[in-house]
Amino acid sequence: MVVTILVVSAVKPQDFRTCAQTSFCRRNRAYADKATSGSFISPYNVIKDTINIEDGIISGELINTENRVLFIFEIHILINNSVRIRINEKNPLKPRYDRVKYWSLIQEPSNTLEYTENSINGKDMFTSLSFGIDRNHKVIIYHTPFHIELLINDVPIITFNNRGFFNFEHLRKKDDPVNKPELVIQPDINAEEAEIQTEEEKEEKQEEGLWEETFNGKIDSKPNGPESIGLDISFPGFGHVYGIPEHTTTLSLKETRGGDGGYNDPYRLYNLDVFEYDLDSPTALYGSIPFMLAHRKGASAAILWLNAAETWIDIVKSKDDKSFLGFGKATPSTHTHWFSESGIIDVFAFLGPTTSDIFEQYGSLTGFTALPQSFAIGYHQCRWNYLNQRDVAEVDAGFDENDIPYDVIWLDIEHTDGKKYFTWDKTKFSDPEKMQKDIGRKGRKMVTIVDPHVKRDDNYYIYKEAKDLDILIKDKDGKAFDGWCWPGSSVYPDWTNPKAQDWFVKKFAFDQYEGSTEYLFIWNDMNEPAVFSGPEITAPKDLIHYEGWEHRNLHNLFGMAFHAATSQGLINRTNPNHRPFVLSRSFFVGSQRFGPIWTGDNFAKWDHLAASSPMLLTIGISGIPFSGADVGGFFGNPEPELLVRWYQTGAFQPFFRGHAHIDTKRREPWLFGEPYTSYIRDAIRQRYILLPFWYTLFQEASTNGMPIIRPMFVVFPDNEETFAMEDQYFVGNSLLVKPITSQGQTSTEVYFAGKDIYYDYYTFKKVQGSGKVRVDVLMNKIPVFLRGGSIIPRRQRFRRSSLAMYSDPFTLIVALNKKGEATGTLYLDDGKSYEYQKGHYIYRKFNFTSGKFTSTSLNNDQVQNDENNYIRSNKFIKIERIIILGIDKLPKKIIGYYNDLIDDKKELEFKISKDIVIIRNPKLLISNDWTIEFVN
Ligand code: NOJ
Repeated sequence: MVVTILVVSAVKPQDFRTCAQTSFCRRNRAYADKATSGSFISPYNVIKDTINIEDGIISGELINTENRVLFIFEIHILINNSVRIRINEKNPLKPRYDRVKYWSLIQEPSNTLEYTENSINGKDMFTSLSFGIDRNHKVIIYHTPFHIELLINDVPIITFNNRGFFNFEHLRKKDDPVNKPELVIQPDINAEEAEIQTEEEKEEKQEEGLWEETFNGKIDSKPNGPESIGLDISFPGFGHVYGIPEHTTTLSLKETRGGDGGYNDPYRLYNLDVFEYDLDSPTALYGSIPFMLAHRKGASAAILWLNAAETWIDIVKSKDDKSFLGFGKATPSTHTHWFSESGIIDVFAFLGPTTSDIFEQYGSLTGFTALPQSFAIGYHQCRWNYLNQRDVAEVDAGFDENDIPYDVIWLDIEHTDGKKYFTWDKTKFSDPEKMQKDIGRKGRKMVTIVDPHVKRDDNYYIYKEAKDLDILIKDKDGKAFDGWCWPGSSVYPDWTNPKAQDWFVKKFAFDQYEGSTEYLFIWNDMNEPAVFSGPEITAPKDLIHYEGWEHRNLHNLFGMAFHAATSQGLINRTNPNHRPFVLSRSFFVGSQRFGPIWTGDNFAKWDHLAASSPMLLTIGISGIPFSGADVGGFFGNPEPELLVRWYQTGAFQPFFRGHAHIDTKRREPWLFGEPYTSYIRDAIRQRYILLPFWYTLFQEASTNGMPIIRPMFVVFPDNEETFAMEDQYFVGNSLLVKPITSQGQTSTEVYFAGKDIYYDYYTFKKVQGSGKVRVDVLMNKIPVFLRGGSIIPRRQRFRRSSLAMYSDPFTLIVALNKKGEATGTLYLDDGKSYEYQKGHYIYRKFNFTSGKFTSTSLNNDQVQNDENNYIRSNKFIKIERIIILGIDKLPKKIIGYYNDLIDDKKELEFKISKDIVIIRNPKLLISNDWTIEFVN
C-alpha cells in the first residue's frame, strides 16, 4: 500500500508537455502564423477535372502545389442536416490510421439524396450543391485555394480552411530531400537567438522532433516521421463555442492565442492521468471528446473531429467580421484551429439549427447514452479503500442506522490480492459472495475495480491467458510492453484487438470471476492508460497494437475500448441479459454507450466544487450525459461545510458518488455529527425523492441525446445573457439549480431567465422578480427552483435504497406557468433488463391546461397494458398526491376518472392553501389514462 502512494505522489505537472515541447504542435502553430502573415496563399488546390458528384458525395483530388503531393477529398452530404469531410493522401507510403470510425460511430452514416447541383457553378472557381428538403443548405467548395463553406439561407455557418491552415504532412522517407515538411520558425527561440544561428543551425532546429522526440529523458522513436494533419474551422457570427472536454476550463471556451484572460497553449486532447490537476487550464485530462458546439442567437452548429491521436485546438475570436457574413453589422466570430499528430481528416459538421437538433444529429451517429439500471442513479459510497468485510458491513449498517439511503458500496484496488484484478485479498475479504449477498438482500449493490494493466506474474491466470493468447501490446522491438502501475511490473492487453475483447468479455462470467455475484458491478480506472514509468505517465507512442498500428494513432480511444469490453462482459454474464454498470475514468467519442465517467482526482477545495459544474455541463453537451465528480473531493479533507455543500450539489449531478483518497480521514456522512449529518441526509434524500424524474431524463437522453443537466444557453437559446453562464444550470428543463460554492455564504444571485414563473423547490413559494435576483441561502439546502410550466414526478417515502422504492406511489408536482399550463413526462420500467426495448415500460405524458389535468400514454411500441410485462407486475402503483402550484382560479370541485371509464367520475378531496391545491389520494393508478377536471 505504501509503495503505491509513493509512486503516485512522484507525479508533477511538469511531467506533461506544453505545445512548445511538442514538435507537431509547434509546426502547426507556426504554419498558422505563416498563413496569417502577409501574402500567404494556401498551396492546396482542387484539381478540377477530378471532381465527381454521385450519391450525395462530392469527391475529387487536391494537390499541394509546393511539393506536388496528391490527396483525395470526399464531402458526404448526410441525412439529418450533417456533412462529413474526409481527406487522405492519394498514395501514402503506407496506410494511415482510419479505424476511429469503427470505435466511435454506431454505423456508417447514410448520405442523403435530397440535394441539387447548382448549375451556375462555373466549375472553374468552385463547386456547389444545395441540400435539405427546402434546398436552403449549401456547401461550396472553392478550388484555388481549396476551402469549404457551409451555409444556411446563404449565411455561412461553418467554414474550413478559410484561413489557410490546412496542413497535411504526407508520409515520407527519412532521407528523401524533396520531401522535407514545411520548414518553420520555432516559436520557442527568441529573435536574438534566431539571428545568431547559422542557416545550418536553423535547419537543424527546424527539423528537431521530426524523426525522434525526447521529453523528460524519454525517447519517442518516430519511425514514420512527421505525419500530422491540421485544419482551421471557423464559425462566422458565433461568439461562443463549447465542448472539447476534458479540461478544467470555462463552459464558454476561452481564446488560446491572446484575447482577454485567454490561455497561451491550445486546448489539448490527450488522455492522461494528471496528478493533482490545476483548475482553469487547457491542459489535457483523462478523457477526450473532439466535439465542439457553436452557438449564437438563432443558430447552433457543431463539429466532430474524428481522430484519436493527440490533438490540440486553438481558439481565437474576432470582434468584427462583416466580411464573413454580409450581416452589415459587427458580429463576433470564432475561429478554431485543429491539429492531430497522425491519422486522416474525418470531420463531421452538424448544422442544427437548434441545440436539440445537434444532440440528436451527433447522437444518431455516435450512439446515445445507454439507459442504466435504476440503481446507478442512486447514491454511491466509495473510498480508497474499505478495509475488509467487517468495514463494509459497518458502513452499510451506518447508512441504515442514520436513515440515509444509498445504493452501492465500492471497493478500490486494495481489495485484490496484490493488485491482481478479479482476485480477492482473502485475509480481508474471506467470503466475497456472502458480503455481496448481504448487501444485495437490502436492495443494494457492490462495485469492484478492474484496471487495464495486468500484473506480470506467472501464477496469475489473467496474465498467463493474455500472454498465451498473444494479445499484449508490444514495444517497438516487438516484445510485450512492460510498464509500471499499481502492481509494479505490468503488461497491457491490447483492447483494440478483437481477440482481447472476446477474451476479456468472458472474464466476467460468474464462474470465471471468482467471488462475483449478480450484485457486483465494475469500475474501470487508469485506462488512459496510466503507466507510471511511461512518458507523461502514459504509454509510449511507439508501442505496437493490433495489425501493427502505433499507439500514437489510437491513444485517445484506448481507454474506451477497455470500457467497451468490460461493459459487454457484464451484459453477457446473465441470461436474459441485464444492463451493465461500468464507471470509466478515460473516455472518448462513444463512451456514453458503455457507462458513466467521472472527473477523476479532484480536491476537497471550494474551487474544485465550483469547477464540477462547468466540467460536467461540458461533458454532457459533448455526448456523455452520465457523469459526476467525486463528492467531497478526492484529495484532502473537506471541512464539514464543504462536504455538505458538495453533497447538496452532487445530488443534482447525474452520477452521484462520494469518494476519497487512501490518505484522507474517513468521511462517511454521519461522521461529522449534527447538524451536518442531517444536512447530508436531506441532500441524499432529495436525490431519492426525485429518482423518477432523473430516470425519465436518462431515458430521454438515451433516445434523443438531450443532456440531463443542461447549461442555461441550451434552455434559453435566444437569451444572450445566459451564453457564458456556468454557475447555475437546469436538470432537464424544469429544475434550476444554483450550487453554493464558497464558504459561509448567506445569499447568492440567481438568474431567472425568460418571463417564466419560478417556484422555490422546497417551499413552493413564487419567486418575486426576474433577471438577477438575490436569494437567501441557508445551510440545509442549495437554491433550487421549479420552472413554471413543468410537471415533475416524485416518490416521497424514505427507504434504504432505490430498489426498496420500486413499487412506491407517486406524487406529481404541477408547477403552472403564466397561462395556467404545465406538462411533464414519466418513464418507468423494470430498471434492470432489456425488456423495455420490446415495449415493456410505462411512458406517461402529463398535461395541465384549461383546468384539465390528463395522463396519456407515450408508449409508442403500443404494447397494451395486459401484454406489458412491466405494467402487469406493477399495475397497482398509485398516485398518492398531486400538488398544483400557482393556480389562479381556485376550484370548487375536483373530479377524476379513467378515460375508459368516463361514466365512473369521482369527486376528489383536496386542500387549498393560497394558490396551492393539494389532492390527496386521487385514487388513480400510474399506468392508466386518466383525467382530472377542476370545476370552478
Ligand atoms: C486513481 C483514481 O482516480 C482514484 O479514484 C482511485 O481511488 C485510485 N486510482 C486508486 O485506485
